[in-house]
Amino acid sequence: MPVERSLRVADAAVIVHPDADAASRDVADRVIRIVADAVAARGKAVLGLATGATPEKVYDLLADRVARGAFSFRDVTTYNLDEYYPIQPLDPLSYRHYMHSRLFGRVDLAPNRAHVLDGTVPEFAAAEHAAWFDRWIEADGGLDLQLLGIGRTGHVGFNEPSDLPPAEFADLPTRLVDLHPTTRADAVREFGSPEAVIPRALTMGVRQILAARAIVMLATGAKKAPIVAQALKGPITAAVPASLLRTVADKVVWVLDEAAAAELG
Ligand code: PGA
Repeated sequence: MPVERSLRVADAAVIVHPDADAASRDVADRVIRIVADAVAARGKAVLGLATGATPEKVYDLLADRVARGAFSFRDVTTYNLDEYYPIQPLDPLSYRHYMHSRLFGRVDLAPNRAHVLDGTVPEFAAAEHAAWFDRWIEADGGLDLQLLGIGRTGHVGFNEPSDLPPAEFADLPTRLVDLHPTTRADAVREFGSPEAVIPRALTMGVRQILAARAIVMLATGAKKAPIVAQALKGPITAAVPASLLRTVADKVVWVLDEAAAAELG
């Protein structure tokens, strides 16, 4: 029976599982542990959540645990990384809808503690809404855990590659952004055609992501292997946003399957 292996790539802690299901189980277990520790220490836990294909299994596992009475979101507050803009929350393509159908609607999380950036705010108010989102997180005492996926561009949330110096990139707040052409191409899977893809989004900023007390990056599948290797072995640069995670390496774990780890050597 194949087993997981732990390695260090540069300064990064990396756990490699035989397959995506095992990696997802590991991440679900980490979420549960971090929630339990935060609730024991502070009476509540604040989670930063991700969308996309990668974490679907993690949400299934968490919802199953809640259904079996083995876990609860009673003391949890959540903040999602991003949302398309503009979009209606009931649109099946919205991340609000994704979260509702996969997690929020299946667990005992209070509705007013499940925060997703609002794709319906008027454009003139988008910057103000984004700034409020950062203030809510800070008022909640910051994120105990940020769950991340990685896009083929190296984005975390929708913080796409940039030519900013790393220190400036690391300080970016939550804001309205344009999606990278590669990200838009990958979104055709959900939207059906290139023309249908919504080209802008609200995203949690790099600053807030890096400030989380723990960060779990989940990446699975062969398509992620090149960017995972670049983020872990290439230079720390805003051109590969996830490489910035190495500036806070002691609180980050990369949970991969063998396919995503294939180019780590
Ligand atoms: P995916 O997206 O899980 O759908 O591959 C990951 C990401 O873009 O962060």
